[in-house]
Parts: sequence; structure tokens; C-alpha cells
Amino acid sequence: MHYCYFDGPRVMPKKMRHHWLLIGACGWVLLILMFASKLINFNSRATDDYGEKAEMQSWTQTEVKTVKSLPAQTSDRRTPKSSDLPSAGPSAASNPTDWQSLETRRLDLLSSVCQKESLRNLTHTSVNTFVLDRIFVCDKHKILFCQTPKVGNTQWKKVLIVLNGVFSTVEEIPENLVHDHEKNGLPRLSSLTYPEIKERLDTYFKFFIVRDPFERLISAFKDKFVKNPRFEPWYKHDIAPAIIRKYRKSHRDNDNKATAGLRFEDFIRYLGDESGRRHMDRQFGEHVIHWVTYSELCAPCDIKYSVIGHHETLELDAPYILKAAGIERLVSYPTIPPGITRYNQTKVEQYFSGISKRDVRRLYARYQGDFSLFGYHRPDFLLD
Ligand SMILES: *[C@@H]1O[C@H](CO)[C@@H](O)[C@H](O)[C@H]1NC(C)=O
Ligand SMILES: *[C@@H]1O[C@H](CO)[C@@H](O)[C@H](O)[C@H]1NC(C)=O
Repeated sequence: MHYCYFDGPRVMPKKMRHHWLLIGACGWVLLILMFASKLINFNSRATDDYGEKAEMQSWTQTEVKTVKSLPAQTSDRRTPKSSDLPSAGPSAASNPTDWQSLETRRLDLLSSVCQKESLRNLTHTSVNTFVLDRIFVCDKHKILFCQTPKVGNTQWKKVLIVLNGVFSTVEEIPENLVHDHEKNGLPRLSSLTYPEIKERLDTYFKFFIVRDPFERLISAFKDKFVKNPRFEPWYKHDIAPAIIRKYRKSHRDNDNKATAGLRFEDFIRYLGDESGRRHMDRQFGEHVIHWVTYSELCAPCDIKYSVIGHHETLELDAPYILKAAGIERLVSYPTIPPGITRYNQTKVEQYFSGISKRDVRRLYARYQGDFSLFGYHRPDFLLD
């Protein structure tokens, strides 16, 4: 089985004609490396990932190659000073001396929370077809990536698509193909046989990215029920009405067009209703991936992941993940727009204002596993 046919030079084939362009680009790349000591640039349409279009606008105007081969420059990269380093999340306690120890602490926390009997229902998931559908395979570089929507995954998928060789640069990947897994050359683990799956789970580099669970839900709500930029009408036309019918408290003002759409409070009540939701979720099918827990998506207690990245520290996590996966010479993660990854408590407070404590507590009860596994603080400001 061989999915990846990446070779460096193919990224820039018309060497002669683009001689000067290439020199210019390399000089530019070096400059960025010197000043930012981070991996480079790529343009990206991350609005899908974040659902925060306004904040992205300045970023999306830059025109830079998304993935390029980095022959010599990688030697310039050094371990950042400890002062540059992130905490394990917005909630981390101590300062790690380097990224490796930070990652070790994340994995240690994960395994200790996985062993807590009281959280067992919220942390353990059998490695079923739903989970195998979430995991993408790059055989050439022996990488498995579990998709956690609303956490910047489109960028990682593009990186892996390029590594898999069907496209040679990220720009060549048509936007609608990124999520078309019949055609994008990024197979899912579920498409393989059991022995093939087992071998890969046992030996490959495995990773996924998380962010604050409630911020992720806000992002999912905005992206699917408010903006819906990818034109996925079923969210507004099928899923929203079903949730409203079951979870809207007062139907009095339904005639008013301005309030006809799904409200955040309806969504929260639906999400917090563990048992009542099950039947609906079966009807919603795969679309629930935008809001079900990380545990349900990636089975982090049942699959031994190599690395867990945090959205809040993605600026540092992304290059290290590439390095840990052994692909830092081949690809880079896009430059991340300033401030976009930062946890924003004001935003969370705004969205949750007016939602009853009872509903927030039920929501937390359902997402508590995700908070605990990945070191995110209980949002006391919403619950007490
Ligand atoms: C786990 O869930 C099952 C049914 O879904 C329930 O019977 C059991 O009490 C739960 N266990 C814990 C520890 O919550
Ligand atoms: C946080 O969110 C609020 C409300 O959405 C917004 O006004 C503010 O600019 C955000 N802060 C940052 C630092 O992004």
C-alpha cells in the first residue's frame, strides 16, 4: 500500500524560468526565518476551521505558498527559549523547559485522566468505524491524523494531501476537494483491512489537535448555523429545525423571522441532553462531528497518540509536530494570524450570557471528559 509519492523538486519544476522568482522567494523565506524563527507562511482559508471570518480577512489577503520544500533552511531552526514556550493550554500551571516536556505532561495527564473510573463514560470510546472514519492516513511518512473539526484541521489535511502526492502544492488543491475523501488522495483508516489498521495504529506517528471545548462549540455554532460559508444547507434546513422543535423553550416568537434560526441556547440544551440526543444524532449522521466530544471523535484513551497539539499554542505546536513526525523538511504549517488562537473568555461569556446555570452545568457534565483529558480549566465563571 503506497499512497504518498512526494518528491521535493516537483514543487518547483520549471526551475529555469522561475530562477529569479525562486531566489527572491528563498531570500524572503530566510528573512522570515530570521525574524520569526518560525516556519513559513502559507496563505489559507481557515475561515472554515474557525468560523471567524472577520478576524481572518487581513490574513487571507497574503499570497504565499502554503507548502514548499525547505532544503537547507531547516538547520536554522532551533529550540525556542523557554520564555517563548506555551503552557499546556490556557490552564496550564508550570513552565516547561521545552516543548518535549510540555508534550510529555500533556500525555501523562491524558493517561491519568483515562484511568479515572468516574470519568470513564466520558473518556473511553471503542475504536469503531466512526473513529476510524476520522483518522487520515499518510503511508509514505507513516502518519495518522485524527480530525477534530473547528480546530484548524483543514490546514493539516492540506499538508497531508500534499505529502500524499496527489497535489504538489496546497494552492492546487481545490477548496471543495479538501473534504472530498473520494478524490483528495487522503484515505481514511476505515478504508483499510483490520490487519492494515492494526499495523498502522501500532507503529505510525499519531496526532490530533484540541482547543477549549466550549470555544469549539461556539465556533461550530457560528460556522454551521449562523454563517454556513461552505453552503451546507442541511444545517439550517434540517438540523436546526429538529433541534428547535425539541429544545426551544418558548415557541411563541417562532413566527418572527429574526428569531427563527437556531439560537445558541437551543444548541446548548440539545448538546447537554445526553440521552435525549442519541436518537437525533443518529439521524444527523456524520454532521455531528462538529460538536461531539474529542473522545468520541478520536478515542484518545483507547488509541495511544504520539502527540496532542493545542490550538491555543499552535504557533509553537505546529512546527514541533512536523518535526516529531519527521516531515519538517518537506512542509510547513501556515502562518497563523495574530491572536486567532488565543482563548477569549469575553467571547465565551457573551455567548453564554442569558443561558441558565442548569443548562450550562448539563453541558459541562457532558464535555467534562474533554476538559479534564486535555488540561482545560473548568469554566467556573459560567458554572458557579
Ligand atoms: C456509564 O454509562 C452507563 C450507561 O450509559 C451507566 O449505566 C453507568 O452508570 C455510567 N457509569 C458512570 C460511572 O457514570
Ligand atoms: C474577544 O471577543 C470579543 C467578543 O467577541 C471581541 O470583541 C474581542 O475583540 C475579542 N478579543 C480578542 C483579543 O480577540
